[in-house]
Amino acid sequence: MAIEKTLVLIKPDGRKRRITGLAIDKLEATGLELVAARVVRVTEKLAQEHYKEHAAQPFFNAIVRYLAGETHAIEHGRLLAMVWEGEDAIAAVRRAAGATDPEKAAPGTIRGCFGRKCAGLMENVVHASSNPSDAAREIALWFSPSDIA
Ligand code: CDP
Ligand code: MG
Repeated sequence: MAIEKTLVLIKPDGRKRRITGLAIDKLEATGLELVAARVVRVTEKLAQEHYKEHAAQPFFNAIVRYLAGETHAIEHGRLLAMVWEGEDAIAAVRRAAGATDPEKAAPGTIRGCFGRKCAGLMENVVHASSNPSDAAREIALWFSPSDIA
C-alpha cells in the first residue's frame, strides 16, 4: 500500500451534461482526498499530448476530438481536471471509474452509470491514470507543481 496521487479528468461531455458533481460524489465515496482541481479549455494539441500513448491506434483522432470537446456540437472543450490522493489512489479511482467500455462497466461505477457508446467511440465521461509513471506524467501535463504542493 502506498500513498499515491492520480489524475482524473471529467471529460467535456460530462461537464456539459452537468454530471461533474455526480462523478465527484463517487470519487469522494472512495475516501480519497481531492487535492487540486481546475477547469481547462482543451486544445487539440493538449489532447494529443495527453493521449500520446495511443497515437498509433485507429481511434486516436476520435479520442483527441472527444477530449477536446469537438463531438456532439459541444461549443467549447472545457473539462474539469483534478488530482486525487490517498492510499492506492490509482487503483481506487480506476475501480470507481469502472471498465473502459461503458457497456462492460459495473453498475454503480461512473462509467457504468453515465458512460455511453456513440459510433464505436467509448464516451466514458472520465479519464483516470493507469499506473504511477502515467500518473506522474499526466499530473505534470495538467498542473503546476505549486498546485499540488
Ligand atoms: O481510459 P482508459 O485508460 O480506461 O482506456 P484507454 O485504453 O487508455 O483508452 C483511452 C480512451 O480512449 C478511453 O477512455 C475511451 O474513451 C477511448 N477508447 C475508445 O473509444 N475505443 C477503444 N477501443 C479504446 C479506447
Ligand atoms: Mg488509459
